[in-house]
Amino acid sequence: MNYKGIFAEELYKAFEKQMEIKSIIQRIEQPKHEDLGDYAFPCFDLAKVMRMAPNKIANELAPKIQSSIFEKVEAVGPYLNVFLEKKSVASEVVKIIQELGSNYGTTNFGEGGAVTIDLSSPNIAKPFSMGHLRSTVIGNALGLICEKVGYRPIRINHLGDWGTQFGKLITAYRKWGNEAQIRQNTIKELLALYIKFHEEAESDPSLEDEGRKWFKALEEGNQEAVELWKWFREESLQEFNRIYELLGITFDSTNGEAYYNDKMQRVVDLLEEKELLTESEGAMVVELDNLPPCLIKKKDGATLYATRDLAAAVYRHETYDFSEALYVVGNEQSLHFTQVFEVLQKMGYTWAKEMHHITFGMMLKDGKKMSTRKGKVVLLEEVLNEAIELAQQNIEAKNPSLEDKNFVAERIGVGAVIFHDLKNDRRNDIEFSLEDMLRVEGETGPYVQYTNARACSILRKANYKQEGSFQLIEDEEAWPVITRLRGFPKAVERAATEYDPSQVAKYVLDLSRSFNKYYGQVRILEDESQKQARLQLVSAVSIVITEGLRLLGLHAPEAM
Ligand code: ARG
Repeated sequence: MNYKGIFAEELYKAFEKQMEIKSIIQRIEQPKHEDLGDYAFPCFDLAKVMRMAPNKIANELAPKIQSSIFEKVEAVGPYLNVFLEKKSVASEVVKIIQELGSNYGTTNFGEGGAVTIDLSSPNIAKPFSMGHLRSTVIGNALGLICEKVGYRPIRINHLGDWGTQFGKLITAYRKWGNEAQIRQNTIKELLALYIKFHEEAESDPSLEDEGRKWFKALEEGNQEAVELWKWFREESLQEFNRIYELLGITFDSTNGEAYYNDKMQRVVDLLEEKELLTESEGAMVVELDNLPPCLIKKKDGATLYATRDLAAAVYRHETYDFSEALYVVGNEQSLHFTQVFEVLQKMGYTWAKEMHHITFGMMLKDGKKMSTRKGKVVLLEEVLNEAIELAQQNIEAKNPSLEDKNFVAERIGVGAVIFHDLKNDRRNDIEFSLEDMLRVEGETGPYVQYTNARACSILRKANYKQEGSFQLIEDEEAWPVITRLRGFPKAVERAATEYDPSQVAKYVLDLSRSFNKYYGQVRILEDESQKQARLQLVSAVSIVITEGLRLLGLHAPEAM
């Protein structure tokens, strides 16, 4: 299927080896317009070598390119354009997709290297924010895409489960807490306790002292404190797990910040050994070039967020021997990660250059940040459930006899939310709109899912079996679909190298649009002589859409 390589070979022969194959391949372009062919070679650089005008070179080369895979070779100005022989290319692509199934586009580019993905990472006893949803969905898709190109993803939920706020929470719970209520409605109740603590502390400053005392007790392993902390953590995690279950996401590790409590001293010692620690107003910091210093220890000896991330990085490198470490965290933590990576560099860890902060923009509602303001919480679970409910209503209105209605509705609703998040460059802010997400006509998950369900329905109607003999497709209208199908491996590769799931999302949208156009132009089941070839194409489309959606974390129901 390496048509570009074949073209390069032909050129190489035609030039009488005056340019190396590698340089030829580098110069071959893909014309923007289909009527300019599938590949083009610009002759400018040869002009010097051959002492001839580029137009003339193109004219002379054209008749020398003679592979049977080219239908037409054409000199257009200084360019040599080639058109692939559509029928044989088409049948080759469809055949390969049928043979490989969901393995189409799979490569061993990553050579089994481990990629740690720090994702989701919500804070215990606090609501799961939109930012955490974005991190979860983007991180999960990156994991699936990495895996597709041969890496071994390791998903780590770096829970925010440590910090002085737990002293406050323990204090508040002992004064006003209610166990049964917390069990029933963990995050809401814990958040209410936390807010009450701050309100009361305004008139009674001794509360702050008590909070500090309890945090100290927690750090020292006081049994009551530790038990409460564990319980808050467990209950919160159970609530988060409901969201993860809906999204269909699992983790390889839920070691949060607390996990590094006994691993930080080593990092502090190492920093000292390497003479990187300096004192600044009683605190210990690492000075950095052109950046604010990285705070390692506060005046009172307490460690910080950055200290934990340093310990976590060292631990992860030792445990997983990663070839890359990704941190899927919002833009606002850019400085933090730049500092952490920089400190690791200074410590002499060459692997620090394989660490990447995968940033993303905010989720906006009516142009404003969706926040968890005091007491007013946007509960993500409610958002997901609402999307599912809307999908359910849609099914009731359009296809009430559908089997497994609830199951399908869940896949559409959740898929809509995920796709909406992934379809744009992750660095952009996105506007949250349930209505937009669920539109069946538009750039949405349901649109792509619906396209696949339509393909599946044709196959069912025709009682299509893959085993049937292979048939050449004759439809000129199929060509744009074929071109898209050929592009899948490239789209996946680009998504992986640019850490950008939107490449895959845009790809499946594009494939869906071109398939729907084909479907509108050609009566697939009418002409017996072409039926098998067309069904084979439809089946290939369904295979690729299903796999593309899977890489984003979506399911592709066979009926909707
Ligand atoms: N818990 C943090 C927050 O909600 C995100 C943690 C990201 N990961 C990390 N290794 N720092 O802001």
